[in-house]
Amino acid sequence: MLTRVDVALGPRSYPVLIGSGCLQELGATLRAQGLPQTNAFVITNPVVAPLYFPILEESLSAAGFQRIVRHEIPATEEGKNWEVFSATCASLLEHFPDAGASPIVILLGGGVVGDLGGFAAAVYRRGVPFVQVPTTLLAAVDSSVGGKVAVNFGGVKNIMGAFSQPRLVFCDLGTLSTLSARELRSGTAEIIKYGAVCCQSLFEDLEAGALKKLLALDPPTVVDIVARCVKLKAAVVERDELDKLGIRNVLNFGHTIGHALELSADYALTHGEAISVGMVAATKLAVHLGLCDTAFQSRLEALLREAGLPLTHPGHPELFEPMLKALQLDKKFRNGRNLFVLPTAPGAWQQREDLPWPLVHQVMQEAIAAQPGTPL
Ligand code: NAD
Ligand code: GLY
Repeated sequence: MLTRVDVALGPRSYPVLIGSGCLQELGATLRAQGLPQTNAFVITNPVVAPLYFPILEESLSAAGFQRIVRHEIPATEEGKNWEVFSATCASLLEHFPDAGASPIVILLGGGVVGDLGGFAAAVYRRGVPFVQVPTTLLAAVDSSVGGKVAVNFGGVKNIMGAFSQPRLVFCDLGTLSTLSARELRSGTAEIIKYGAVCCQSLFEDLEAGALKKLLALDPPTVVDIVARCVKLKAAVVERDELDKLGIRNVLNFGHTIGHALELSADYALTHGEAISVGMVAATKLAVHLGLCDTAFQSRLEALLREAGLPLTHPGHPELFEPMLKALQLDKKFRNGRNLFVLPTAPGAWQQREDLPWPLVHQVMQEAIAAQPGTPL
């Protein structure tokens, strides 16, 4: 039994199907969605492939796929780069030079596979259909939905990319059972993000025990929370698909300082860990500006702590200058200013581009100070 959430984008609409132990149904589901291809190019990585590629391959074969090519990319964020992207495009061209035999691209993995592989599918022959099969919690609740596909380039996160919607997101939450505890916790950062700035009831449910059950991979809780997050993301994307109206910025809560830290620390932190530190820093900014009370900050910090996520990245004052540089290279840096998404209450937010630099510097310094919680 699959839970279905629709992303309604007119001709680019697609369903997100969520279940547990359903990977073997992928092939039949592609057919049920009217996808007629008989060739598949599966992008995955050396960690995920041995675990899940055989089931996926069997499922596609049973549905009449004749040629299934497996292409692996590195299993870490360092591999989300132009060279790996280029090698992926080269492999697509090598295996499928004939336009009449164009494949469906299947992205089996976490956000790195989804972002890089989705970008390759978006540009190969000006776009071939692709399907997201997320295998991390983070990818299930966030990166597989919404059509942002990209690679890091020139020291900037996600600066080369496109908007290209998948034909289907097929989420087998059973795959989360093999995820490391650290990667599971990392995924909860984006879930806490949705609660903090998009949905008060989600925030409160996480506080009231759902986070604990999620971390224990309690099946009904995982399906419920993933479906709720996907619905929240779909609602944002439906209103601002191309990130032009300011509405989609809400999804960037914690990402301004978080991305700067993620890059400057050379990916010593996972994406979710960096976003956790970034959310705390953004909330401190909101408190300093009088936009949000300290009670909210305490509640957010308590949730992040319960999730085993870091509130700061202490002992790294040397990262201050690289982080400043990264802020200026941020995708959303415009006219000399960074965009900050600031929480105002559970489920509510404001965006600001006029923050005083000394205040921004102060919270950044607190995030990386030699002693936790103190300025440099
Ligand atoms: P990831 O893709 O690097 O996966 C984390 C690790 O988990 C990898 O080592 C991977 O091999 C391993 N893994 C994946 N599935 C597994 C499984 N089922 N069992 C065991 N191991 C497994 O990281 P992520 O957290 O999924 O994604 C982070 C990326 O997503 C970042 O690049 C971030 O920028 C991007 N992102 C994109 C969007 C978007 O809208 N496009 C949104 C949020 C994040
Ligand atoms: N994760 C940011 C976005 O989808 O807009």
